[in-house]
Amino acid sequence: MKVLIIGGTGVISTAITRELLARKADVTLYNRGITPSLVPEGARRIFGNRREYATFERQMAALGVFDCVIDMMCFLPQDAESLVKAFAGRTAQLIFCSTVEVYTKPAERLPIREDNPRQSICQYGVNKALCEDILNQAHQRQDFQTTIFRPAYTYGEGGTLIYALGDQTYLDRIAKGGSLVVPGDGNCLWVTCHRDDVGLAFVNAIGNTKTYGKAYNTCGDNWMTWNAYHQTVARAIGAPEPRLVHIPSSLLEKLAPHRYKPRAYIFSYNYLFDSTAAKEDLAFRCTTSWEQGARRTYAWAKENGQLGKSEEDTFHADLVAAWEEMGEALLAQVQGG
Ligand SMILES: NC(=O)c1ccc[n+]([C@@H]2O[C@H](COP(=O)([O-])OP(=O)(O)OC[C@H]3O[C@@H](n4cnc5c(N)ncnc54)[C@H](OP(=O)(O)O)[C@@H]3O)[C@@H](O)[C@H]2O)c1
Repeated sequence: MKVLIIGGTGVISTAITRELLARKADVTLYNRGITPSLVPEGARRIFGNRREYATFERQMAALGVFDCVIDMMCFLPQDAESLVKAFAGRTAQLIFCSTVEVYTKPAERLPIREDNPRQSICQYGVNKALCEDILNQAHQRQDFQTTIFRPAYTYGEGGTLIYALGDQTYLDRIAKGGSLVVPGDGNCLWVTCHRDDVGLAFVNAIGNTKTYGKAYNTCGDNWMTWNAYHQTVARAIGAPEPRLVHIPSSLLEKLAPHRYKPRAYIFSYNYLFDSTAAKEDLAFRCTTSWEQGARRTYAWAKENGQLGKSEEDTFHADLVAAWEEMGEALLAQVQGG
């Protein structure tokens, strides 16, 4: 089995690479060599930037043919077009890592299945849907067999955990018992999946004829509210119960336009996806609980000096103080009146 991964050292793709090497596949990784690699020896490494399209296409042509190419880093229609140029007739199968952000939100029908409408509310999702269309057209032309993955939130060691006001200092903030800003009332549903479970499903798709021309949600099955998400992380790492500070999402968009607004859609809708197809065709299973996975991710970050320094984030502290002062003043005014 000769497989090329564009990426291969990132959060999800590390699990794919590891699983392929464990199965003794012939693995080539293509990336810029910037992300620190947590994958074992054994894969051939080719370096380059896939956005330098002409060079990328020349580099790929020189590599010969593959049984499968997995693209983890295709975000723009131009990326997908270049991918087709590079691999039409040069790979039997093309696995594209899309996202659940392609779906219309709020969804008219829950849980969201693969045939739900794809009118995304964010540019990221719009572009991923365009990439899907380009790769499905290539499938129709028989340039290669296309398989699409739409992961929901996927995390793992080597990365951090998602937080509305800044992922990089989240683990330190929660470990130190700091306040956490939670958009809205924190009762929207969210779901997490450890990357090892998602990575296994990708590998099970290789050469699997059932997956040709199909798309698959890969989403955890541990739905929880955002409040429970934070409470579980605190419990997992032995931190104090977090003090959750609820601020309306629409206000946060104005207060923190750079760090909150671009991802506000994540925190404002229920993330309920149906992964039955992946369970049936790819033996996709969620084997790591959120508590176990959060503990492992924290332990890795601590051991590798990646916890961040939450006290340096003065904006966060100022925002919480201003919000609480305003709340007290409002209460005094209403009760006084
Ligand atoms: N994690 C989630 O919650 C989630 C959910 C839905 C969808 N996704 C999708 O998952 C994919 C991300 O997968 P991941 O977690 O494995 O990746 P990742 O953690 O973002 O890592 C990126 C990988 O691609 C390489 N890379 C980045 N830019 C590149 C470029 N211009 N040219 C060549 N290589 C490049 C990186 O290595 P270098 O830095 O060394 O180049 C690394 O190997 C994306 O397509 C995303 O849309 C993720």
